[in-house]
Amino acid sequence: MSLQWPYENIDGYLYVDGVSTIDIARRYGTPVYVYSENLIRKQYKLLSSTIAKYYPKTRLLFASKANTNISILNILLEEGSEIDAVSPGEVYLSLATGYKPSQIMFTGTSVGLDELNYLLETGVRINVDSRSQLERTLNLEVPELISIRINPEFGAGHHEHAITAGPNVKFGIWDQDAVEAYNLAARAGVKKFGIQMHIGSGVFDVSNYVKASSRLLEIAKKIHEETGISFDFIDLGGGIGIPYKPEDMQINLDNFMDTLFGFVKSKLSEYNLGMPEIWFEPGRFFVAEAGIILTRITTIKKTPYKNWIGVDAGFNTLIRPALYGSYHEIIAASKLNGRKSKHDIYGPLCESGDVFGHDREIPEVEEGALLAIMNAGAYGYSMSSQYNSRPRAPEVMVKNGKDWLIRERETFEDLLKGQKMS
Ligand code: LLP
Repeated sequence: MSLQWPYENIDGYLYVDGVSTIDIARRYGTPVYVYSENLIRKQYKLLSSTIAKYYPKTRLLFASKANTNISILNILLEEGSEIDAVSPGEVYLSLATGYKPSQIMFTGTSVGLDELNYLLETGVRINVDSRSQLERTLNLEVPELISIRINPEFGAGHHEHAITAGPNVKFGIWDQDAVEAYNLAARAGVKKFGIQMHIGSGVFDVSNYVKASSRLLEIAKKIHEETGISFDFIDLGGGIGIPYKPEDMQINLDNFMDTLFGFVKSKLSEYNLGMPEIWFEPGRFFVAEAGIILTRITTIKKTPYKNWIGVDAGFNTLIRPALYGSYHEIIAASKLNGRKSKHDIYGPLCESGDVFGHDREIPEVEEGALLAIMNAGAYGYSMSSQYNSRPRAPEVMVKNGKDWLIRERETFEDLLKGQKMS
C-alpha cells in the first residue's frame, strides 16, 4: 500500500502528520483512535472549494453520525460546516460544540413526540421523514422552516444496509404524498421550505446522484406548480465514497460536480425553480481517511488452515467489517518494510465474526507489534460499543508533529455506570 500524507513510512515505522504511531501507542495505550486535524480540514476545503466552482449558493452539513467527537465537530465548525443530525443526542453535542440552532438540520426517522419537543425547543431546522411526523410537529408548534425528505425511488450504496432510498427502504415521503405534505405545512403557516434526499453511502458514480436528483427535481417542480411554494434549499444528501481498498480510486470531484451541477442547473431553469441553495451532507468524506485505529498484536497462532494474528481491537472498536463485510486496509505500523505473507486478523470478542480481514499481506510480525487499521475516522468510534464488557478506546488528535487526547479511555467503572444491583 502506498502511504499518502499525513501517513508516512519513516524507517519502517508509521507516522501520522509527523508523530510516531509507536509513541502514540506507548503514551495512550491500545487500541486507540488517531485522527489528523490537518486532513479533516483539507477534505472540507477540497469539497467546499470544488462545489463553489460549479454553483454560487451551496452549504455543507457534516453528517455527524460519522463522528461526534466535539473536537472534530469544532474543527468542522471552524471550517464553515453546518450539521446534519439524526438524533437529539447529535443535536445536543453540536449545540455544545458551539453550532447555532440555525446551523443544524435534524433528519430523523421514526421520531417520537418527546424528540420533537426537544427539537422545537432548541430551534433547529427539521427535515421530516413522514406525514405523521409533519402533523405531530405542526400540532406542537409551527416552525418557520420545514424541509421534507423525499424518497426519490432510487438508491445506491456500498452495502444493502447503506442504501437509503428506493422501494423497500423505510426513509422519506413518496411523490404521491409530497404535494399534500407541503400544502399542509403551508396552510399551517410555515414560511420557508427545503426539500431533501439521501440515496445512500459509499457512492462513487455521479450517475446515481443524477438519476435520483432527476426524480427529486421532478417532484420539486410538481410541488412548486401545484402549491406555489419556492424552495430555499435543495439538499442532495451525503454518501460520497472514499477509497477503502488499494484498487479504489479517489473520486474525481471536479468531474463529479461538473456533471451533477450541469444537470441540476439545467433542470432548475427548465422547471422554473429559481436558484435555491444546494446542500450536501457528507460524513465519511470529511473524516474517514483522517482516522486510524492502532491495535497491538496479542497473539500469533498458526492452525492447519490459517496464520492468525490476534489484536486488541475488535468489532466493539470498528464494526464495519463484521456488519457490512467492509474492507479496511491493515498495515504493520511498527514494521512497514518486511517481506509480506498472508495472515488473518482477528479481535478479542467471543464471536467468530470478530475478524478484520482474511488473507492480508502482513510482514512476519511478533506479539507486541503494532497494526494500524486505516480509514477508521468515520463510523469507527461512533459505532463502537462495550460489547463483551470492554471499555471503549480513547481518541487522540494529531497535528504538525503534536498529539493530544480528545477522549479518555473508558474504565471498568464506566462499565458499572448507572447500574443498580437489586
Ligand atoms: N445524510 C443522511 C440522511 C444519512 O443517513 C447519512 C448516512 C449521511 C448523510 C452520510 O453518509 P456518508 O457521507 O457518511 O456516507 N454506518 C455506515 C453507513 C450508513 C450511514 C447511514 N447514513 C458505514 O459505516 O458505512
